[in-house]
Amino acid sequence: MRTPIIAGNWKMNKTAVEAAAFISQIRDGLNAVSGVDIAVCPPAIAIPAVAEAVKGTKIGVGAQNMYFEESGAFTGELAPNMITPFCQYVILGHSERRAYFGETDEGVNKKIKAALAHGLTPMVCVGESLEQNEAGETHSFVSGQVKAAFAGLTADQAAACVIAYEPIWAIGTGRTATVEQAGSIIGGTVRATIAEILGDDVAQQIRIQYGGSVNEKNIAELMAHPDIDGALVGGASLKPTFVDLVANAA
Ligand code: 13P
Repeated sequence: MRTPIIAGNWKMNKTAVEAAAFISQIRDGLNAVSGVDIAVCPPAIAIPAVAEAVKGTKIGVGAQNMYFEESGAFTGELAPNMITPFCQYVILGHSERRAYFGETDEGVNKKIKAALAHGLTPMVCVGESLEQNEAGETHSFVSGQVKAAFAGLTADQAAACVIAYEPIWAIGTGRTATVEQAGSIIGGTVRATIAEILGDDVAQQIRIQYGGSVNEKNIAELMAHPDIDGALVGGASLKPTFVDLVANAA
């Protein structure tokens, strides 16, 4: 039985002060929800404040990115051991990082290995563009992303990861994939690819989230699909109604 996980990806929103104030607004509400794992992923500079603000609750903290090297001349980057004192999770390979900051499948693979070596749970993002979707390339493209991300991982390592299927055309657009669309790619492509490369046991254990315009109204329907194990939530995780979203997921 896979415990669903709802994670809020705040992207480049909220200062450290705003982030801590927001947590004090939502922490009791989130903490009262049972049956789902919960995480918030603030901008890096707000991570310590948020980690402090969620102390004593079931709310986990995630980073939005991380570099794979241990230390050194990598201006602007964060090493795994810089986030582990505060975080249990790290989002890797988000489509915005792939599109705007040159993230490659190869780099994502290295980051996943580094995160696991440091005891972090990677939330690995995959998903096709509108052009790829309309050209009928979703299955081959997303399957290729999954294969590249999980290359060289053991079954146990892969099972410890979370995957977020986020079709790029559904991110921030208000255009959610239908439950049938999301469920069929998550089951028929993402989980099926994990089964193909790592075996059925891992495929049944690994948690796969949907992401893209998830809100408090559509979450319950998405969660009812047997292959959808939670959500990676952008815009709707920035508002106090994130508590309702998480409650409706449970
Ligand atoms: P929205 O929920 O704002 O569409 O963002 C989804 C996302 O990219 C989460 O990582």
